[in-house]
Amino acid sequence: MSVAAVRTVTLTVNGTERTARTEVRTLLSDFLRNALGLTGTHVGCEEGICGSCTVLLEGVPVRACLMLAVQAEGARVETVEGLAQNGELTGLQSAMRDEHGLQCGFCTPGILMSLTAAEREGLSEEETTGQVLAGHRCRCTGYAGIRAAVARRRKESEATP
Ligand code: FES
Ligand code: FES
Repeated sequence: MSVAAVRTVTLTVNGTERTARTEVRTLLSDFLRNALGLTGTHVGCEEGICGSCTVLLEGVPVRACLMLAVQAEGARVETVEGLAQNGELTGLQSAMRDEHGLQCGFCTPGILMSLTAAEREGLSEEETTGQVLAGHRCRCTGYAGIRAAVARRRKESEATP
């Protein structure tokens, strides 16, 4: 009988150090959801296609279903739970709400994380709606509301340099 290899994994998640024991084969997405209780990171395809599981690893968007939790040891991870502060939505979250950028919401956490990284990097509206949204599958919205949210944020940042 084989015994599963187990390791202790420590990450800084949304600014707080979190530690848990997990099997070495555990995906980062499952570790966040099951070991840390952060179920805002959604899991759709588990094949790197849909983008629902996107989190920021050292500020860079990654598919959390395509890496092992042990590979993220010691890293800084941001999930959708870390966006709003003290109940205050980020500008992007507000724009998605106001522009009806979501319906069922399954894809939304991953999209928000990618859009957050794009905004921090100062990507143009065209780069964001082209390259960034191309990495996410949304079955509900037809992307119109999401594009409108990106455009709204662009206008807001131009108005408040
Ligand atoms: S669940 Fe990770 S890309 Fe779909
Ligand atoms: S809002 Fe339902 S999949 Fe995007």
